[in-house]
Amino acid sequence: MHLQTFSTPEEASEAVANLIISRINAFGPTQHHKFVLGLPTGGTPTRVYEILAERCEASEISFEHVISVNLDEYVGLPPTHEQSYHHFMEEHFDIPPSQTHILPGVPIHPIQIITGTDPSAASEWESDLKAHQVSCAAYEALITYLGGINLLFMGIGANGHIGFNEPGSSFESRTRVVALNEGTWEANARFFEDKSRVPTHALSMGLGTILDAQEIIVLALGSNKAEAIRRAVEDGINHMTPASVLQQHERVTFVADSSAASGRK
Ligand code: F6R
Repeated sequence: MHLQTFSTPEEASEAVANLIISRINAFGPTQHHKFVLGLPTGGTPTRVYEILAERCEASEISFEHVISVNLDEYVGLPPTHEQSYHHFMEEHFDIPPSQTHILPGVPIHPIQIITGTDPSAASEWESDLKAHQVSCAAYEALITYLGGINLLFMGIGANGHIGFNEPGSSFESRTRVVALNEGTWEANARFFEDKSRVPTHALSMGLGTILDAQEIIVLALGSNKAEAIRRAVEDGINHMTPASVLQQHERVTFVADSSAASGRK
């Protein structure tokens, strides 16, 4: 694992875009294997996505042989909701829908589709939860079918979360339904008109899923990420800083602007 520091958010975003481009360009697609790129949403990656679009326009890169898989999605938000991660990706990342995979925020009820009801469900939430669990298992199977993630690009939460794996998450966790903690809920309220509308749960790749990626890049911008970066990089691996588990991965690059790197001793 290593940390690259840049003076500005622009330089840090460019470094991430360059790394993504170089890995995609170095990849020789086969008939059965495309380049699988894991992607985040949020405030951090937007400039990277703009740069990628610019480079695509300049024919420096093509996404023809790329399949994207997103890290997470809010529970309860349909793809049309402007704060859903489906909508975010449509707005920020120009890749054909047939090459994009995002977890469904609104449950798909396989049991109801087959039988008309789910007799074992005690409540609507319980029934939804089961449907979400089926989607999460299907997502894991999809990633395996695709041959695994070649490069996983992520942001990091101020509390050290990656994906929506909050402090305390198991290092072996797979894609699942997670409860957002208070800090994440507060941080993400900036995207919603009204705080009470921020979803309480999300579907997220697990830490085990993330660790299976061949290569990982984490971008951190701004002083509110300084403590998370310090703990992820300098403290030992511990459950209270989920990103610290990346220390046990062989190919991880943290990219930070000077503000996000300022907490280092
Ligand atoms: C989003 C995701 C989250 C964010 C993190 C930072 O898909 O997986 O882990 O990367 O919450 O969010 P921002 O970039 O908004 O500070």
